[in-house]
Order: sequence, then C-alpha cells, then structure tokens
Amino acid sequence: MQEELLSLKNNAIYLISQAGSLKELEELSLQLMGRSGSLTTLLRQLPTLSKEEKPSVGRLANEVKMIIEDTVAQRKKELNSKSKQNRQKIDVTEPGLKPPLGSLHLTTQAIREITEIFSRIGLQRVRYPEISWDWYNFTALNFPENHPARDDLETFYIDATPNKAKGRMMLNVHTSTGQVQHMEQSELPIRMLNIAKVYRRQMDVSHTPVFHQFETMVIDKNISIAHLKGTLEYFVKSYFGPNRKSRIRPYDFRFTEPSFETDVSCAVCNGTGWLTNNEKCRLCKEGWLELGGAGMIHPNVLRAGGIDPTKYSGFASGWGVERVLMMKEGIQIDDLRTLYGNDLDFLKQF
Ligand code: PHE
Repeated sequence: MQEELLSLKNNAIYLISQAGSLKELEELSLQLMGRSGSLTTLLRQLPTLSKEEKPSVGRLANEVKMIIEDTVAQRKKELNSKSKQNRQKIDVTEPGLKPPLGSLHLTTQAIREITEIFSRIGLQRVRYPEISWDWYNFTALNFPENHPARDDLETFYIDATPNKAKGRMMLNVHTSTGQVQHMEQSELPIRMLNIAKVYRRQMDVSHTPVFHQFETMVIDKNISIAHLKGTLEYFVKSYFGPNRKSRIRPYDFRFTEPSFETDVSCAVCNGTGWLTNNEKCRLCKEGWLELGGAGMIHPNVLRAGGIDPTKYSGFASGWGVERVLMMKEGIQIDDLRTLYGNDLDFLKQF
C-alpha cells in the first residue's frame, strides 16, 4: 500500500505539471480525487489494514492527498497567469484582418454616371412604379388595340382585375410608361430622366427578362429635332468619350413622330466597320452600334398627358443601361447574363 501511494503521488505530480489547460487540470484532479478516482479508491482500503500498519500508512495517505491538492492548486495558478499573459501578448503592429468590402454593381455604377451626365443639362431623375396599366404602357402612347407588343409573349401581365379606365396590369415593358405619368404630375416645361427596370419575356446572350432603360423627355415651347440631336451628341461624348460619334436614322415608333434609331460609332473599328488587318469588325454593323430609340413626342401622347400639342412640343429617347455599358470601351461583356450571374470574381474587377 505504501509503494502504491508513493508511485501514485509521483505519477500524479508529473501529470499535473503537464496539464496544458484548466480543463485538463480539472479532469485530472477528478481522475485522482473524484468519487471513483485512483487516490479515493486507495483511501477506501485503509480500514482493511492491520492495526500496526494503519497509523503510518494513514499519515502517508494524508500527506499524499495534501501534496496532490497543493500541486493542483499551484498548477491552477500557473495556468491562470499564463492565459492572462497570452491575452496581453497581442501585437498591435500586426496588420489587421480586412473585412471584405462590397462595391457598387456595374449596372448601378452606370445608372449613377448617366444620372450625373444628364443632371448637368438640367434633366431631373424621376421614378415611377415598376408595375402599371395598359394605358401608360400602350394606349396613352398611341398603340393601336392589336399591336404585337401587347402580345402575351412579350409582356408579363399581372393576374389582377383590370382597371376600368386603364386596363390590364403588367410589369412595365419600357420606361416610356413614365412619359404620360410624368406629364400628369409635372408643370411645364419638363426635363425628365426616368431610369427604371423593365420586363420582357426574353432570354438569350443579348436579352434578359429584366433590364434597365433610361428615358429622356423634354417638353417646352419650340423643342425641335435639333435639341434631340444635341442631347444625343452630348450624351455620347460624355459617356463614351470625345472620339465617339453619334447619328440618327429614320425609324418607326407609335409614340413619336418622326421617330429615329440612334447609333454610336464603334470603338473597335473606329466607325469604319473594318479592322486594320482588313477583316470585317465583328462587334458592330458597318461602324455603328445601336443605342436605342428616340423621336419627337406624338401629338396624341401629349394630349393623353393633358398638354396642348399646338403650343408645346418635345422629344423623348429610350436607351438601355446594360446596352451602353456593353458598348463602352474597355468593358467586353459577351453575354449579358454575366451581369446578373452574381459571380464575385467577375464583379470584383469593376
Ligand atoms: N420605348 C422604346 C423602346 O423600348 C424606346 C423609345 C423611347 C423610342 C422614347 C422613342 C422614344 O424600344
């Protein structure tokens, strides 16, 4: 029994000195002195000893117990002060961990830039709900009842009871929806920039079901095509750079008369349609890239907005935000869908 006590003591002292944490130390002292601990088990055998052995072995056992308890207490102190030291050992000169910072999405950046460019010539950014009625999307814009744009294949109609005066509800198919709404709500003269999401049932490399348009609308006395052409030229030079040219071509929209397609010269072939190695430019059509529609606001549309077309005239244009982004020099996006893929490796570049 004596030997057992002594070897248990030595063993215990060694193990306690090796305990690496307070938790380990506590486990160890339970293993020794807990209800079924090794020391406890030994002490329980004391009453079975002979009368001669009992006093000396009893004393030794007591000593061993005290030594072990002291050693545990000592080690506890050491571990406590060690963890304090560790806490104080923070190197304040070490570079910190930077939390990942987000950045504005490419489309948001473009919207802000466009807004800033037009604000310099007095066009004020406005917003209208993304949902409206047939009236603002089509009828007030001079669309005949059977126009193909009303086709269910192009438009997302909303499953709601149609409005008696304004017809079926739908996700806006273009920002021109804001034209008559803005006429109703503003005093003349009008200088509007409406940037919004628009929705069409389409999906391929150059079309997504939701995209952004920016719509200008200027109404005042004596507004002419010259104002439209000047605004186009100003936007093209400001957004794309001083070397890009603009042009207008005759086109047809229901809500403008005359109507135009507006183009920007291609940056890749410098507006020639040909590359320096005599190959045809693959980005553009004969040196020009299509920006979108424009025109002089149709008298019927002015009337729908409560404006007298014999006194006032105006122009409007509707261009695509993602489109101008893709046409800008230095950003080559082959597939429009990458803009909305939420791929951080792609987005982080901008
Ligand atoms: N709303 C037309 C479209 O989405 C563009 C446009 C706007 C044309 C304003 C003329 C005037 O294609």
